[in-house]
Amino acid sequence: MTAEVLALNRRTEREAVFNPWRVRRDFPILHQKLEGKPLVYLDSAAMSQKPQVVLDAIRRFYQLDCSNVHRGVHTLSERATDAYETARAKIQRFINAGHPSEIVFVRGTTEGINLVAGSYGRRHIRAGDEIVVTTMEHHSNIVPWQILCEEKGARLRVAPVSDTGELLLDEFERLLNPRTRFVSVVHVSNALGTVNPIRRIVEMAHGWNVPVLIDGAQAAPHLGIDVRELDCDFYVFSGHKLYGPTGIGVLYGKEKLLEAMPPYQGGGEMISTVSFEKTTYKRPPFKFEAGTPNVAGAIGLGTAIDYVSGLGRSAVAAHEEQLMAYATKALLDIPGVRLIGTAPGKVSVVSFVLDGVHPHDIGTILDEEGIAIRAGHHCAQPLMERFRVPATARASFALYNVTEEIDALVSALHKVRDLLG
Ligand SMILES: Cc1ncc(COP(=O)(O)O)c(C=O)c1O
Repeated sequence: MTAEVLALNRRTEREAVFNPWRVRRDFPILHQKLEGKPLVYLDSAAMSQKPQVVLDAIRRFYQLDCSNVHRGVHTLSERATDAYETARAKIQRFINAGHPSEIVFVRGTTEGINLVAGSYGRRHIRAGDEIVVTTMEHHSNIVPWQILCEEKGARLRVAPVSDTGELLLDEFERLLNPRTRFVSVVHVSNALGTVNPIRRIVEMAHGWNVPVLIDGAQAAPHLGIDVRELDCDFYVFSGHKLYGPTGIGVLYGKEKLLEAMPPYQGGGEMISTVSFEKTTYKRPPFKFEAGTPNVAGAIGLGTAIDYVSGLGRSAVAAHEEQLMAYATKALLDIPGVRLIGTAPGKVSVVSFVLDGVHPHDIGTILDEEGIAIRAGHHCAQPLMERFRVPATARASFALYNVTEEIDALVSALHKVRDLLG
């Protein structure tokens, strides 16, 4: 047997025996009590927890390799640069981009979208043009486009969603017209869990020669991402939702588009030459990475990607699917619970309301039981308005969650009903 076959066998074996209890051992934060109760962490859509290997990688950088990148000729700088660029290559493979130069390190999804709006958008959007988003966008995929539209006299068009929380594709298609200049759509809704049909959306937009940005903040931790297969023009996600550190994220852009875009910020590292008469810029991705980047963050994210890939993406997805099915059924069995977002195939989040109880009160009482969920508008106020709710309670799942935690959630919700319902 070749080494490759042996490695494949080992990996298949690991995937077959995916054991969330064993996985939990990799996450030190999960083994604590809050007010004497074991922590039940069901807020990974807001921020995922970090495995020990990621914590170690960050510590190792600061302890042994701490140095600036792309600058020094000394050993530490070479090591840091090597680790930083290795992380970029890992991300390239993780999303199947064609080349590492298509991977730009940013602070997170929000900065990635602002970069595209501020650079591509500023250059190409003019008065009377239209930009299309959907009702289920996170504020970070609404506000940057609104700012751009205001500046340019352009118009933001919004594709509606159905009562189940699915994008109405026909309505989306109807919005595309000769004035459309850009489409920006979420892959997985953070408030509903809906998975959008990105391939179809991209095909429709490309039919009008319109580029498409995908907000992958909630997709990257749960779905296999293949940017070439999706054929999207830009894809953005955050490290902190993908078991990596805060302050680091990724903007993928097709090489040709990145090449033609003006810089987003000016400063050190992004230039080829500077004089008071004229400055010339480096090629992507460096053109978009002004100043000292988040080196430790990039290294940590690369390690997080190794970690998830090592567990087997399909094994993780199968586990999370099982959690979703279990939670959906268990919540619906509680009298007075209504789910917000019931699209088939949804992933990772269950949003709900409970008759007569404000979601914030649910969150507060659950916290007393050691259970962390999110309650609020989830940075998706237009979507809350669409469903005529001020807020929802949201439980979200990750690879380290177990069905026993959903049982704890359900029994705490019964307490909430007894107290306030
Ligand atoms: C769908 C979606 N888009 C964008 C964001 C913003 O991500 P960040 O705050 O990491 O920039 C989030 C964060 O919750 C999100 O869920």
